[in-house]
Amino acid sequence: MAKPIVDTEYLKEIDKARRDLRALIAFKNCAPIMLRLAWHDAGTYDVSTKTGGPNGSIRNEEEYSHGSNSGLKIAIDFCEEIKAKHPRITYADLYQLAGVVAVEVTGGPTVDFVPGRKDSNVCPKEGRLPDANRGAPHLRDIFFRMGLSDKDIVALSGGHTLGRAHPERSGFDGPWTKDPLKFDNSYFVELLQMESEGLLKLPTDKALVDDPAFRPLVELYAKDEDAFFRDYAESHKKLSELGFTPP
Ligand code: HEM
Repeated sequence: MAKPIVDTEYLKEIDKARRDLRALIAFKNCAPIMLRLAWHDAGTYDVSTKTGGPNGSIRNEEEYSHGSNSGLKIAIDFCEEIKAKHPRITYADLYQLAGVVAVEVTGGPTVDFVPGRKDSNVCPKEGRLPDANRGAPHLRDIFFRMGLSDKDIVALSGGHTLGRAHPERSGFDGPWTKDPLKFDNSYFVELLQMESEGLLKLPTDKALVDDPAFRPLVELYAKDEDAFFRDYAESHKKLSELGFTPP
């Protein structure tokens, strides 16, 4: 019989990799791009064909060279340092673990992590990730295709509490919050301000405020950080386990 992915040794390696990821992310200040890598590996999932998802396929040039993945090779290379020390861990697990650790070390909620994802070399066609220039119907098309909900869309958009846009990668520029290395609810607080000088609002971010079903969640998360952390942790876990049945 084939050796199972997860056994006691594997779990030990996951613990060690988690510690190494904490150190690497702190040293390189790269939590935002690690979270973005995890999201872009997972966010290609198609619930109807059961293709895409958190399966490590983004490590292949065919996929990381998609326009929407611009810049993510940096995070793939950082993860390679961890993979070299813990070769048994699948890329699929490693990228999702990196996303979970990125949220944790920047002060966000603890996201439950269950290992056992298998790697795939089958890359989805370009166009499965959201286009920042579109509106609420597009967000629903993309996230419902993954099997996610309105609440997941708003909670997960709070990932933009970390990091910034880079003109040479996406054409957009600037951070969403005043402290882009701190995971908190400031993304939602800033979103409700009409003018936040120097801060970025993508068309898809603005869609959250304008849509009658999304807006109450934005308002809730802006005034109640505990509610945001609770929902975010739940939605992030769902995203990290799309198409995955824990062993
Ligand atoms: C960055 C779009 C959802 C996490 C970006 C950038 C764009 C974008 C255009 C800038 C990339 C660059 O120029 O470097 C979108 C759209 C979304 C979405 C349209 C649809 C809702 C999410 C989700 C997460 C996330 C669900 C995670 C839970 C991030 C992070 C960055 C980022 C952390 C910063 C990366 C860095 O600093 O290098 N996103 N995103 N995004 N996104 Fe999203």
